[in-house]
Amino acid sequence: MGSQKTFTMLKPGALQRRIVGEILTRLERKGLNLVGLKLMTIPRELAETHYGEHREKPFFSDLVQYVTSAPVVAMVLEGEEAISRVRLLCGATKVDQAQPGTIRGDYATQTQLNIIHASDSPESAEREIALFFDKNELYAFEDGNAEWF
Ligand code: PPS
Repeated sequence: MGSQKTFTMLKPGALQRRIVGEILTRLERKGLNLVGLKLMTIPRELAETHYGEHREKPFFSDLVQYVTSAPVVAMVLEGEEAISRVRLLCGATKVDQAQPGTIRGDYATQTQLNIIHASDSPESAEREIALFFDKNELYAFEDGNAEWF
């Protein structure tokens, strides 16, 4: 057990369907701390680097086209075992395998438009956070500061 940071991205369909708040609520309710957040249109080169491991897959160009077609919400979440917990909350990549109760299980209708991306390992998390965020864009979450309530 230990605190981890993980990279998560709400894909263009999440904004289009106006469900960004609902998805963020699910992640926050699980106790994850939001330590980085931005609305951005991803440059093609960044999308190609981010999904670089899928470069040879038949869906690669469609995937890059989709995630660069409109803004996404990029975020960094922090918490105990954050990487695997966020993946569990997201559910399986393939929509027909995503269980009800998970984000993809409840909202995604097509695998290629599966609403959310989340890092799948500590190595991916470190790489993806560094691709999307400068160090000074990440905040230290302070628990229980009564002056802010
Ligand atoms: S694979 O094929 O098992 O290595 O793919 P996976 O690691 O599950 O994730 C692939 C990412 O590409 C997106 N994508 C598709 N996957 C499978 N099939 C099709 N047709 C497809 N089209 C796009 C999929 O949504 C995964 O994106 P992220 O953002 O990581 O969820």
